[in-house]
Amino acid sequence: MKDLAPRKEDLDPIEIASIDEIRSLQLDRLKWSVRHAYDNVPMYRKRFDDAGVHPDDLQQLSDLSKFPFTYKTDLRDNYPFGLFAVPREQIVRVHASSGTTGKPTVVGYTRNDIDNWADLVARSMRASGTRAGDIVHIAYGYGLFTGGLGAHYGAERLGATVVPVSGGMTERQVTLITDFKPTTIMVTPSYMLNILEGFHKAGLDPRESSLNVGIFGAEPWTDSMRKEVEAAFDMHAVDIYGLSEIMGPGVANECVETKDGPTIWEDHFFPEIIDPETGETLPDGEEGELVFTTLTKEGLPMIRYRTRDLTRLLPGTARSMRRMAKITGRSDDMMILRGVNVFPTQIEEQVMATGGLAPHFLIELHTSGRMDAMRVHVEATPDAADEASRAASARMLSKRIKDVVGVSTEVVVGDPGAVARSEGKARRVVDNRQKG
Ligand code: DLL
Repeated sequence: MKDLAPRKEDLDPIEIASIDEIRSLQLDRLKWSVRHAYDNVPMYRKRFDDAGVHPDDLQQLSDLSKFPFTYKTDLRDNYPFGLFAVPREQIVRVHASSGTTGKPTVVGYTRNDIDNWADLVARSMRASGTRAGDIVHIAYGYGLFTGGLGAHYGAERLGATVVPVSGGMTERQVTLITDFKPTTIMVTPSYMLNILEGFHKAGLDPRESSLNVGIFGAEPWTDSMRKEVEAAFDMHAVDIYGLSEIMGPGVANECVETKDGPTIWEDHFFPEIIDPETGETLPDGEEGELVFTTLTKEGLPMIRYRTRDLTRLLPGTARSMRRMAKITGRSDDMMILRGVNVFPTQIEEQVMATGGLAPHFLIELHTSGRMDAMRVHVEATPDAADEASRAASARMLSKRIKDVVGVSTEVVVGDPGAVARSEGKARRVVDNRQKG
């Protein structure tokens, strides 16, 4: 793999500024953001008043913990535009989550917000090893999802040649990669596996492709998956993190020279880790729920937004700003089986480590007797699809999950291609438990 670390002189100076400088900028911006929310969004004014706090109470960064949290339900309750802090005419774009049930959550951006977002995605891409003049293939979905357009504006800002493919039509993805010769691809890690399969189906060697960087995010993925994709394509696989409510992709991004968890772009977002049960702020290094406060957003300021993502804050390495540990899962995705907490990423790790299995899986929760039980659907690789190999892989995976994760599971090894493929964020869990 190529050495793609950016040159120091190409970084934004704040990325490598002193911690004091970063904290001082954050405090100035935080004061502005909290006041902006209080002055312009009735929900924040009421919340702060009810909690007996006022923007003037924010004198140092640690004062933020006195302010109330904001939740996803607040966006739903104020659907569609009730949390916007500027007149609607100043909102130049909206995005929305698909929302599996009920109303989607809507987010809005002013021109400045879009501008900052483009800068931060460009910074994220540079951290990933992409440069001006590169060809960038974007296979995140375009539309209401922030992935496609967010990546697109950032890639243009960086000065790349953008190929706005969006998700789906895997054969065409392979053709375009082969013909246009992009060096960077931006896509969900699960869809990258389908593109990999597309290369194999077309009889092409993915290691011969032009790609040398993949910027993967929008869903949890493991270091085992990173190794798999890096080896398959002979490319760097780098983690991009973000969420619509806070901006979209590019809230944090891994640096290609270290690949040790996404660096949080702290000049625009203030992170906290809290105990999800008590709401108490935890020191750096401890695992808990990630909470973000936006520092520069005009359209939709978010004060102490509960992401439900579980991680830790870590000191800076390649940059001065803090990192977050690669996300192990969302509190929403956690399954509890006979008292043991299980995340889909833990299953992913074991699937990757088991011979004879393709890297695709689906977890089915069902009821066995009166207990919750887990069935893991995987599929054989074409060279290990005979009965005996499948039975061996099933035994091996079930043993690994028992030994490492601590739960008993049934493993179903299907034919190659048996597990449903994703074109965006993969669906990892189906819940077939009897209700009531
Ligand atoms: O997924 C934004 C995005 C697009 C990020 C493209 C990266 C690349 P939402 O649809 O609002 O926004 O979903 C946000 O996805 O709270 C996490 O649970 C999860 N997520 C996003 N990036 C990562 C990542 C976009 N790198 C939710 N690792 C977040 C793990 C991630 N989970």
